[in-house]
Amino acid sequence: MGLQKKLLLLALVGIAGATSLTGCSGDTPKQEGTEMTATANEQPTMEIKQESFGKTKEGQETNLYTLTNEHGMQVKISDYGATVTSILVPDKEGKLGNVVLGFDDQSGYQSPAYLKSGPYFGATIGRYGNRIAKGKFTLEGQEYKLATNNGTNHLHGGNKGFDKVVWQAEPLPKQNALKLTYVSADGEEGYPGQLTSTVTYTLTNDNELKIAYAATTDKTTHVNLTNHSYFNLAAGEAKDILNHNLTLNAERYTVVDETLIPTGELRNVSGTPMDFTKPQPIGSRIKEVPGGYDHNYVLTDTSKKLKHAATVVEPASGRMMEVFTTEPGIQFYSGNFLDGTITGSGNNTYGKHYGFALETQHFPDTPNQPQFPTTVLKPGETYESATVYRFSVLDSKQE
Ligand code: BGC
Repeated sequence: MGLQKKLLLLALVGIAGATSLTGCSGDTPKQEGTEMTATANEQPTMEIKQESFGKTKEGQETNLYTLTNEHGMQVKISDYGATVTSILVPDKEGKLGNVVLGFDDQSGYQSPAYLKSGPYFGATIGRYGNRIAKGKFTLEGQEYKLATNNGTNHLHGGNKGFDKVVWQAEPLPKQNALKLTYVSADGEEGYPGQLTSTVTYTLTNDNELKIAYAATTDKTTHVNLTNHSYFNLAAGEAKDILNHNLTLNAERYTVVDETLIPTGELRNVSGTPMDFTKPQPIGSRIKEVPGGYDHNYVLTDTSKKLKHAATVVEPASGRMMEVFTTEPGIQFYSGNFLDGTITGSGNNTYGKHYGFALETQHFPDTPNQPQFPTTVLKPGETYESATVYRFSVLDSKQE
């Protein structure tokens, strides 16, 4: 990076008053209320390419949409699972590389190996991201039973969550966005209420992928939507993410039992391998964490506004990703269950720790833990949530 850009970066950090957020390059993306707005009038209309992505095993057509910005950054989204299948971003030499795990066509998302390991690459997770203990909760005096698809627990919406259905897609070329809608029936996977969800992906000319969620229901229910992209900022040049430097703007995490259900304790990370308040290579202490990282971090800033949650830098390529969210938590998952049985785009075989996920969310098992920020959605209310993944490059010497 040239001196000028470095100075600009320092100035931006100063303006944002983000001195404690080491690794955070700049200001918080634009937001209006809790709903983030696409910077529609600031960028020219971009063409959104639509092509066939193949048929589902059940014979339904799926489509792939490509958003492109002025810098050549490209995001591909399938209407199957409202899934991000590819994100092309430049490295420090300007070379584009795909920084997410995924497949080039629909068949990859339904192959036997994929379904067996269930990694949820890039998918929209719903109606409840993460685990619900024993697959049940009581709401307004009534007990609801959900699918137990993860040992004795419910995970990521059940057997057929929002990741395994075809969403209705609407390209919004003026905003360089794609809006996807899914109506989940009352009783689907055991949840009460018909839930109408939308997820809008916007690609800005600041190399930001903005994800805005909204949902309404006709009966009281629980909602916790997230995106399950796995990132490898080396774009396949490195076979694991252990050298990526991670900063999390979180001083506490939700302690879990052996089935990954929170005990209710919020524990301070200080002096432990869980501490990413300052940039740390993901791999530097991973061996001290049984099973690897798979924890929900409690963001330090508890406001509902869009705020910095995480920064990741891959030193060799210089690629940097910052994450901003309106959510109170972020699940940091270091790809512990990837086992080399899946080969995806670019003929890359996804072994252990090939990618990491940073899932912005409410805390796991909130329906059974009333002390956590609520996930209840009532008729007449609108659930809103927004997350931004912003990409840029840093000089490797800075790391
Ligand atoms: C969970 C992991 C799980 C993975 C893939 C993550 O969100 O935290 O425990 O293995 O998703 O299913």
